Amino acid sequence: MSTAMKPPSPNLKHQPATRIEGISRLWDGTRVHQDVAIVLRGGTVVGIGPEVDDVPVEEIIDADGLIAMPGLVDCHTHTTFAGSRVGDFVRRLGGANYTALLEGGGGIHTTVQSTRMATTDELSFLTSARLETMLAHGVTTVEIKSGYGLDLRTEARMIDAAQASSGPVEVVSTYLAHVFPRGRNTGAERSAYLQEILDSHLPTLANRVTAVDVYCDDGAFTLEETRAILTRARALGLGLHVHAEQVAYTGAAALAAELGAWSADHLERLDANGVAALAKAGTVAVLLPGAMLYLKDSAPPVAALRAAGVPLAVATDFNPGSSPVNNLWVAATLACLTMGLTPEEALMGITRNGARALGRTDLGWLGAGSAADIALYAPPVGEPPSVEVLLQYMGGTLAEQVWKRGQRVL
Ligand code: NIG
Ligand code: FE
Repeated sequence: MSTAMKPPSPNLKHQPATRIEGISRLWDGTRVHQDVAIVLRGGTVVGIGPEVDDVPVEEIIDADGLIAMPGLVDCHTHTTFAGSRVGDFVRRLGGANYTALLEGGGGIHTTVQSTRMATTDELSFLTSARLETMLAHGVTTVEIKSGYGLDLRTEARMIDAAQASSGPVEVVSTYLAHVFPRGRNTGAERSAYLQEILDSHLPTLANRVTAVDVYCDDGAFTLEETRAILTRARALGLGLHVHAEQVAYTGAAALAAELGAWSADHLERLDANGVAALAKAGTVAVLLPGAMLYLKDSAPPVAALRAAGVPLAVATDFNPGSSPVNNLWVAATLACLTMGLTPEEALMGITRNGARALGRTDLGWLGAGSAADIALYAPPVGEPPSVEVLLQYMGGTLAEQVWKRGQRVL
């Protein structure tokens, strides 16, 4: 449609407004409010609290006694994949090592094989079904990485499948340089594959994703290879993420900070230099307690991150190998129990800082001008309404109502 043919942009004032009333507790992304209403219009929040009590509205929704959160943001997932890794799970319970499985051609490579064999429709169906579960828990925005295709065609199909997923959850796509394909991880083949990423994958896929991520680790990309990919991605105008300091210390977190990455993720091996670099750059530290638990790992240096003022996000890292956890509330609770986050930090981690890790300022908070993405929960039976109780009952928090961009979707 040419510009001249575009209808005039609708005047927000003339769109119907909705007031959600009777909310007993509301987390606005930063703090808790008591006994408030929210007014929405045209996909945006007009305001919360007493100041909107007199705003004329066309529709009133009863949320009596419910707890309101901004629609949750899961800022690090690998939701699009085919096949099963239950064999890996059982082998790892028997003592097998995650990196050894990967370097032996299993692990991630098992999922690559199944994902390449799946049709795009199958990948889209699997993604949609998983997103539906996430929505039921109040998640309205999910970042989904590619990285189980490795060849350009399958990487593109993974991204297309996620974008084509049905349902109201907003999908944010990231290209992930995950591992080298089997048989291409040494010598000339290794350099040739890296060159393919730089000269073919990134420019071809740049207009379908908002960011690029690299798994910098043993069995994956080296620090210098990571630098080459992220530098090219930045030149293409994309946001940057790094799987950093997870299994081996590599210096990837400091590199992420140096390049102005939106986030550095995992961070179990992060050192003081990395903490200082993230703080200086304002890069979000994304904590992934599901992966930490399934790899029986120790916690990232949360106290040092907090002391340095690094923004903390919490995500599921949902994937079939290292974090088969698709419930963001479980990740938030585990972040408190196993990493020492305060309830406020965990709540901020799945809302405002999750959005910040995706370079988004419209999501993850509720107030005048925010997206009208809202999740409403009843407290567990017998419990008084409080925001913390949603963290206390691990993963037990199905949403009563979910709103995405001002539309009731659940
Ligand atoms: O974020 N560690 C690397 N990548 C994923 C795991 C993917 C997999 O094992 O399939 C992660 O943990
Ligand atoms: Fe991951």
